Amino acid sequence: MASQERNGGARDRQASGDGRPGAARRAESRRLSRRGFLGWATTGWIAFTAAIGGCFASFGRFLFPNVLYESPTRFKVGRPQEFAPNSVDTRFKEEHGLWIVRDGGRLYALVAVCTHLGCPPEWVESQGRFQCPCHGSGFLRSGERLDGPAPRALERASVRVDPEDGQLVVDVAVRYREELGQWDDPGAWVAVG
Ligand code: FES
Repeated sequence: MASQERNGGARDRQASGDGRPGAARRAESRRLSRRGFLGWATTGWIAFTAAIGGCFASFGRFLFPNVLYESPTRFKVGRPQEFAPNSVDTRFKEEHGLWIVRDGGRLYALVAVCTHLGCPPEWVESQGRFQCPCHGSGFLRSGERLDGPAPRALERASVRVDPEDGQLVVDVAVRYREELGQWDDPGAWVAVG
C-alpha cells in the first residue's frame, strides 16, 4: 500500500514535470484562472459603468441643452412724460443697448451701435453728441452722422405706447434707418406733449 502511494506520488511529480504534486498544480491552475476571471470581470464592470455614465451624460445634455438666455427684444421703459424735454436718457444702454431721446415733441429710441464697425458710442452731454471711442465717429442727438468713418446715421428701434398702461414699449428687433427715409414712419417715434 505504502509502495502504491509512493508510486502514485512519483507519477504526479512526473506528470507535473516541475517536481510538484499534480493536485497542487491543479489548485494553482484554478487560482490563476479565478484571478484571470476576476480581472476580466473588473475590466468589464468598469467599461459597463463608463458606458452607463456616458448615456446619463448624453441624456442630461438632452434635458438641459446649452441655451443662451438673452434679454427680450421688447420691453417697457416708462411713460413718455417721464422723459425730460430735449434729453438723452442713458439708463437703458447697459442692459438693452439703446438711448431714449426726447427731441422737441417726439420720443424715439436710438440703438447704441456705431454704424462703422459696431462699437458702442458714448453720450457726451457737455458736447451734445454721441462719440464712438473706437475710431472717432460722432453723431448728433438725433442720431444723424456728424463726423468720422461711420457711413450712416445710428438706427432707431420701434417705439409705441401701450394703450393699457400708457408705457412706452420698445422693440429693438424692429429698426428704422435714416438713409432709407424711415425715421418718419409710424413706429419710429411717438408724440409727447
Ligand atoms: S466703430 Fe465707431 S468709429 Fe469705428
